[in-house]
Amino acid sequence: MKILFVSSEAAPLIKTGGLADVSGALPAALRNLGVDVRLLLPAYPQVLNALPQTQVVARLFGLAEFPVAQLLEAVMPDGVPLWLVDCPALYQRDGGPYQDKYGADWGDNAQRFGLLSRVAALLGCADSPLEWRPDVVHCNDWQSGLTPAYLHYAPQPARSVMSIHNIAFQGVFPQQLTPHLGLPWDCFKLDGVEYFGNLSFLKAGLFYADHVTTVSPTYAREIQTDALGFGLQGLLRHRQHALTGILNGIDNTEWNPATDPHLAAPYSSSDLTGKAANKAELQRRVGLTVAPDVPLFGLVSRFTHQKGVDMVLEIAPQLLEFPAQLVLLGSGDAGIQSWAQELAYRYPGQIAVQVKFDEGLSHLIEAGSDVFLMPSRFEPCGLNQMYSQRYGTPPIVHATGGLIDSVVDCNAETLAHGQAAGFVFHDMNAYTLLTTAQRAAVAYRDKTTWHALQTNGMNRDFGWNASAQAYRNLYAHLMGK
Ligand code: ADP
Ligand code: GLC
Repeated sequence: MKILFVSSEAAPLIKTGGLADVSGALPAALRNLGVDVRLLLPAYPQVLNALPQTQVVARLFGLAEFPVAQLLEAVMPDGVPLWLVDCPALYQRDGGPYQDKYGADWGDNAQRFGLLSRVAALLGCADSPLEWRPDVVHCNDWQSGLTPAYLHYAPQPARSVMSIHNIAFQGVFPQQLTPHLGLPWDCFKLDGVEYFGNLSFLKAGLFYADHVTTVSPTYAREIQTDALGFGLQGLLRHRQHALTGILNGIDNTEWNPATDPHLAAPYSSSDLTGKAANKAELQRRVGLTVAPDVPLFGLVSRFTHQKGVDMVLEIAPQLLEFPAQLVLLGSGDAGIQSWAQELAYRYPGQIAVQVKFDEGLSHLIEAGSDVFLMPSRFEPCGLNQMYSQRYGTPPIVHATGGLIDSVVDCNAETLAHGQAAGFVFHDMNAYTLLTTAQRAAVAYRDKTTWHALQTNGMNRDFGWNASAQAYRNLYAHLMGK
């Protein structure tokens, strides 16, 4: 079984969010099941710098109006074979994968990810310059969304899977670009790539892919509703028999409190003593008062409306009265950033805010906090609520998407069954978040309950194996096996 896995980011090479965690870990998990997976990424400077050993394996020219490019071959640190679309005119620049260093989207993102999609389709059809031909091309999010559309017009195309990691990002561009990206006007229609008069990369993928997946069973239902379908609910309802929700896993090696190099002390579910040293180290590092018995609430997130960070800021002054402490790591929306920094300034020693992307600190926050906050308005899957359970840090989550699929609320019954591992709230408002945080603070005072919550979460298996098997079964089904 040969699979080409296409993504716009993959840890540890380049990461802005959970898509990188998934693209970094799922291919390796599939290889452990005997699947021959290869990863295709753009050759951003960050990627080239991390991989000095690359080899040119093909020249890519004559692809519509895309600039000349070449295909490089390398290997991921965990052994997964990797191909890079090397096109300096589109990727060799200072900034992130989607935005410049000031946070503005690159003006030529349609070309940048059109080329990624185009090359993925090329490798998946009879025109490929390589001998290796995939049975299935697995596309992820809008950045590879045009691939199934290109495959539709390609000779002897592979089957295709389109995975939605976040339907709020769709890659919508002016219709005039259609022929310049090498797509015939024939596909610019309702039954095609057209979306309210524009060209939509994600819609193209959802329409033309042989199968659509998303990253949790609950989100698979939610995106078929008017509330969370972001305009694509009609198409998804139409395709519901070819739509599957598969919960993401987590990388148990990368996220293991017993061996994590970013921690001050190791610990495990059978001996949690080391957790206190991590709390003290975290408090010191971010400038909180070192207070072992005050519950410390942590958050690591993109600062956007989706993540509900504003609600945490709204309740922060009342939270401190429990008493409690708060540490926030993230960046994004300028208004949320300055609001958070203002609170940190007003409550020194009690609220700490770090506006940056810091992998090491994110691990220490998972380990050193007592409670993890994830009040997302919507969440396709979410990874931090799983990391925090693995780190003995019960999460508080809103009942949405992958959050409900991965967190069991604490109540008398779930405690009795040894399942309780966090706190789930249903009404998305500041008052409910505050009372849920209070519920967590009360549980924290009861050592037996708290220990049960911690170990229930730590002992649950969130690893990739089950999800990787589900993907393998899906590929087999598409191949008619
Ligand atoms: P999303 O992909 O929507 O941002 P996920 O929960 O799936 O949400 O994944 C987010 C990933 O990005 C996690 O691995 C999280 O730890 C990481 N992350 C987010 N913000 C930061 C940050 N400021 N510093 C370090 N890691 C971060
Ligand atoms: C997206 C979603 C997040 C999910 C991640 C990986 O960024 O917002 O919920 O965990 O993709 O699938």
